[in-house]
Amino acid sequence: MNQFEGSHILSVNQLNLDSIQTIFNVASRMMPYALREKRNNVLDGAILGNLFFEPSTRTRVSFGCAFNLLGGHVRETTGMASSSLSKGESLYDTARVLSTYSDVIAMRHPDSYSAKEFAEGSRVPVINGGDGSNEHPTQALLDLFTIQKELKCAGRGIDGMHIAMVGDLKFGRTVHSLSRLLCMYKNISFTLISPAELAMPDYVISDIENAGHSIKITDQLEGHLDKADILYLTRIQEERFPSQDEANKYRGKFRLNRSIYTQHCKSNTVIMHPLPRDSRAQANELDNDLNSHPNLAIFRQADNGLLIRMALFALTLGVDTQLEKYECPVNWYSRKADR
Ligand code: CP
Repeated sequence: MNQFEGSHILSVNQLNLDSIQTIFNVASRMMPYALREKRNNVLDGAILGNLFFEPSTRTRVSFGCAFNLLGGHVRETTGMASSSLSKGESLYDTARVLSTYSDVIAMRHPDSYSAKEFAEGSRVPVINGGDGSNEHPTQALLDLFTIQKELKCAGRGIDGMHIAMVGDLKFGRTVHSLSRLLCMYKNISFTLISPAELAMPDYVISDIENAGHSIKITDQLEGHLDKADILYLTRIQEERFPSQDEANKYRGKFRLNRSIYTQHCKSNTVIMHPLPRDSRAQANELDNDLNSHPNLAIFRQADNGLLIRMALFALTLGVDTQLEKYECPVNWYSRKADR
């Protein structure tokens, strides 16, 4: 039995370097299925309850596709209005009921710590797909998996790397979770770039300091990117602001385009963003003129999300050792691997 079998995945604080490596090893084994080189039916008959009470493209669809790619079925609830949560039902009751209908549940909700509250009512594993501004553990895992792969291509590891995190570090849950994962490594340099009002929360800063890493905090982009191995951009999380006018104050404050990148970054700095990037003219935080740049890893991140989520399903449902037994050929045209 693996250590994740029957467990909730609610926070990166549950993980350590060994358990992360277990997830990454299983994720790597998912590549032939994600690339449609082979099919896998190991979860035939299993049901994923995919509950998204906040907008999502990548997380929701990749959770669903990850489950389908392992042969399972997906029942989806999207939006608060289509759930009886809108009639005052509690997260506990919702979880208690839906966990009878499902074998595993992925959930996103606008409130911090809602995933934990939901999990208390669930009789099946719950995977946190983002709870308010608190955490996004599966995004952090796919980000870390991507960082490891990108740096490996450059002949490097994560220990000793320099990461610049940019944008809304207050409400951006992906940087909270990723910072805590990076704390498990050695000698990381963090440059945290945000407006003072959107600074990284003190509890994350404390975690970084207590783990002995170095931190530089600034509200300026230019002049602070030259040492970054990883440049991790984030969107202004407008849905967490009291009004659009308030969010508009910060939109477009930090923009990266090819000219700024070439002028201020090392030639091998990897550009990351959890997506969605805000491409509206008033924001344009990550310009399309970088789309063909080989160091732009944003779509590789999204691709890796499928592998990580397939691995988490295989591990929490205890089928990670049975994958090869349930392989079968692909009968339809499938695109050639492009990675
Ligand atoms: N990165 C991420 O969580 O994207 P979605 O909001 O589209 O799921």
